[in-house]
Amino acid sequence: MNQKFFSWTALLLSLSAVAIVSCTKKEAALEQPANTVVATDKIRIGHFASLTGEVAAFGNSTKKGVDLAQELFNAAGGFDGKPVEVITYDDQSKPEEALSTVTKLITQDQVLGLLGEVASGLSKVAADVAMRNKTPMLSPASTNPDVTKKGEYIFRICFIDPFQGEVMAKFATENLKAKTAVVIRDVKQDYSVGLADFFKKAFEAKGGKILTDTSYQSKDTDFRAQLTDAKAKKPDVIFVPGYYNDVALIVKQARQMGIKQPILGGDGWESEDLAKVAGKEALENTYYSNHYAPDTTDPTALTFIESFKKKYGGERPDAMAALGFDAFNVMINAMKRAKSLTREDIRVALAETKDFAGITGNISINEDRNAVKSAVVLKYVKGMPTYFATVNP
Ligand code: PHE
Repeated sequence: MNQKFFSWTALLLSLSAVAIVSCTKKEAALEQPANTVVATDKIRIGHFASLTGEVAAFGNSTKKGVDLAQELFNAAGGFDGKPVEVITYDDQSKPEEALSTVTKLITQDQVLGLLGEVASGLSKVAADVAMRNKTPMLSPASTNPDVTKKGEYIFRICFIDPFQGEVMAKFATENLKAKTAVVIRDVKQDYSVGLADFFKKAFEAKGGKILTDTSYQSKDTDFRAQLTDAKAKKPDVIFVPGYYNDVALIVKQARQMGIKQPILGGDGWESEDLAKVAGKEALENTYYSNHYAPDTTDPTALTFIESFKKKYGGERPDAMAALGFDAFNVMINAMKRAKSLTREDIRVALAETKDFAGITGNISINEDRNAVKSAVVLKYVKGMPTYFATVNP
């Protein structure tokens, strides 16, 4: 290394915990070196989320959790006396916007790390950008296995869908004594396609039979054709691994058509909007796997719920809010352990995350950069998702 540059860098490092390196727009272009020290006296984390669009409930909840965590952290003194700034952009639930918001966070805002996305398809797009720019990305909630397979900068704090599929297959066969199932999947969502496959595999491995595996596309509104077919097959259970907005209509139409069987799903069901659209009667006899139970009795979670309610006018935090809260804190925890505040050292520290006590459980990052955590099964009771069981990995 050039001697002059070296001593200049050393001087800056000795002056401040955060080195200040001037960075022109040109230098900030896409292929930024991994060890770039962020050119700001602010410590910035980027957050990209669906604040509008198809799955707006996901992003808005996550943001509330992230914002609360940030507020508490800064109120307690921040990072060595400096506040942490979170820059959140709306990706509108669209892949092209996930791409551009993440690019902007990395190259213009010079964030040290990224939080996002919830929807796996959007996380996959963003992960390619994060990988190219050697910027650590931590997804709070994307469960599709391919997300972290993008490479060594991509992490998540949640379990993955092979496990989630197993959880619901186990629940169907053991708790509901199901021998047959119908699957209705959203072919537009990586998440749904993956979870449908993993459920199917696990259910068949337990001796179950899939009578029909049928599909729809996000934003469809009429599911009568698929449901007519499902009804005719007389399955013990129907598995619908979709997102809340479509699932709400599927469940509602199924009950209108006289389908009384249990309807099962995954974490994509998690939103108050589901009950608003489907109605509480239609949701009787439905179950889904999730990261957190809103009626938890865990003391740490209860403290979180209290402060969340205080900040947001009595609103109950859902799983995304809890995961957003945890994701921020796991990122901060890594930044504290990092040898220096560079993207590269934060990546190394994230990979070494062990036994972080989160609201959504104990978080350790494994060699595939995933968290191995237990899942809860929730049952809809009078329109409210209610704790039913815990399934350990
Ligand atoms: N796991 C979903 C996905 O990967 C996202 C999600 C997480 C939705 C948690 C709701 C709650 O797309």
